[in-house]
Order: sequence, then C-alpha cells, then structure tokens
Amino acid sequence: MSAEPGLTEASTRQRLSAEYLRALPKAEVHCHLEGCVPPATARRLAERHGVTLPAGAHDGDRYRFLDFPEGLQIYVAVSSSMQTPEDFRVVTHESLLSAAAGGCRYREIAFNPQNHPELTYAEMMDGILAGAREAHADTGIESRIIVAINRELGGEAALDLVRQVLAHPLDEVVAIGLDSNELAGRPSEFVAAYDLAREAGLKLTAHAGEHGDSTEMVECLDLLRVDRIDHGYAALLDPELLSRTVASQIPYSACWFVDYPEAEVEGRRRDVAEMAAAGLNMCLNSDDPALIGPEVDACYIDAGAHLDWDVKDAEKYALSGLDACFADAVTVDRLRAEFTAELERLRPLAYGSDDK
Ligand code: HPA
Ligand code: ZN
Repeated sequence: MSAEPGLTEASTRQRLSAEYLRALPKAEVHCHLEGCVPPATARRLAERHGVTLPAGAHDGDRYRFLDFPEGLQIYVAVSSSMQTPEDFRVVTHESLLSAAAGGCRYREIAFNPQNHPELTYAEMMDGILAGAREAHADTGIESRIIVAINRELGGEAALDLVRQVLAHPLDEVVAIGLDSNELAGRPSEFVAAYDLAREAGLKLTAHAGEHGDSTEMVECLDLLRVDRIDHGYAALLDPELLSRTVASQIPYSACWFVDYPEAEVEGRRRDVAEMAAAGLNMCLNSDDPALIGPEVDACYIDAGAHLDWDVKDAEKYALSGLDACFADAVTVDRLRAEFTAELERLRPLAYGSDDK
C-alpha cells in the first residue's frame, strides 16, 4: 500500500531462533477451515464424492493459482468436496493438529456454511466440534468457531444464515464473519444480519481493506459495528481511519503471507510492518495455510526475521492473538496465564542455535 519501506533494512541484532519462534505459544484468530485442507485430503474427498477439482489442485502438495479470484475458485471446489459431518471432523482435526505442531494453542476457525449446501448447519457443526474435541484431546489446542458469511451471496442469504445459527445455539460459536470476494457488493448490505447477531450476543468481525478500499472498513466500523477487522491494510491510505483505529485499538487480524504469483509478498510484509509501527493493535495469522500461505509458525518465523524482533516483540505478538480473540473472559484469562508461564520458560532459548 505504501511506497515507503517499513521493514528493517539490515539487522544489527542477533536473530531469534526459528526453534524458539515455533515453540512460542500462539493464538490465531483469522484462519479459514476450508483453506486448511491440504491438496491430498481435498483430492481424497473430491474423489469420494465425485467432485471435479480445478487443475491447480490436481497434483503436488501445494495448490497452484495465479490470483485471488482463482484461489477462491479452488477454495469453493474444496468446500464442495466436504459433504458429510465426517468430512468436517477429519478436516477440522487435521487442521488443528497442523496448527498445534507450530505452537498454536488457540485457533478461531472461520467456515462458510453457505458453501456446503448439501449439509445442514447442525450437521456441519457436529463434524467440526467432533474434530475440535479430538484435536484438543490429542494436543491441548483450544478452538472456537466463526460462522462466515459469503459476501458474494448478498444480505438476504446472510440474514437467513444468522437465523440458522441462532436456531442452534452453541457455546463454541463465538462470532459472525464476512469473507470471500471483497469486490462483490458492500458491507452495508449486511447490516440486518450483523444487527441480529449482535442482539444475540455474538461477536462480529469482517474482512475489509485487503482487496477493497478504506471506505469499506469505515462501513464495517460504522454500520456493521464490528469488534475486529480482518486484514485492514487499506487503513494505511486513510489517515483519518488510521488515527481513529489507533485511538480505539480495535484489533486487526493481519495475515503475514500472500503466496501466489500475482500477490505482492513484499508489499504485504511492508503493510504489516507499517501498521504495527503506526500503533495499530495487530495480531499475526495464517489466513488459509493450505492455500494462500504457510502455517502460523512460519508467519512468526518470517515476521521475526523481517521485523527484526527481539524477545519482547515476540512475546507481545504471542499475546496479541489472545487480546483479539472472542473466547469468554475465563478462558482468555486462563490461556493468558498459561502463555505467560510458557513465555518465561522459553525465554532462555530465544537465541538458541538453529543448526543443532
Ligand atoms: N480472504 C477472503 N475470503 C476468504 C479467504 C481469504 O483469504 N479465504 C477464504 N475465504
Ligand atoms: Zn481471511
């Protein structure tokens, strides 16, 4: 977004070890379930259900696509391959094990019920919660669910989705989100859905300012009255919005990597660096670890190197996801105490050698 480099040019500090950054306890709040499905799993599910995946999913261990709309086509096709509660269980379990292997202790998982018309909301949630319980038993990782509205399907369908969510109240479902193509429609279309969710006590987040401009972010704040912003890089081009959100300290769930040919990885790194330097309340996330970038531990390792983190910086980011998350206060306080103890335990290992 900016021409000014926000990254440290040449580090004079000793680098934090990758091993330390991987072990660092992390809380991730911006991660799409269907974007966590590795190609091999997607191919297995697609074959079982007779779904044809796009060519970019046919072989290899990464999806291949040129730009975000093409990536979304893969995402939608992978979503179509998840047709039973058991599929949701397997995918949720696998994704949380992968996160936990990189030090993730808490993940808020967004998923798009509207992309799975074969299943009821209750059936999908049965599978997701079974997978989440299993991953918790295996690794201790905790998770909560964000029901994400597919923005391309408009406000009426969104309202219908929120009504389904409220008809099946579940403690694990903590928020409503808004995602898919930011260039389709405006946030203002979703006011009724967001009002209904807020009245029922759900938290609210929305993707904005990644592909769209800052006016979309202002709509999310003023009309949808969100509690968090997903991405939000366009704030860098709007001084009024920037100072407003520095003052309010609303959390931004930034995503460190964008890894496809037409994405500007360096531009993303610069944006995140500038947002942090401007004093926004940022946390670091993977977004779609099987599709768009790597797992959250790789985000921390790369960010630590590019932003020249010291131990204090690493610890601040480790806790920032907890500050941004939508779990209940008792859970957050417990996790904060666990994170703080673990950060202290890890501190002597911060500059350990990675060569061992
Ligand atoms: N951005 C917006 N919508 C999405 C994404 C994303 O990265 N992944 C899945 N839906
Ligand atoms: Zn996202």
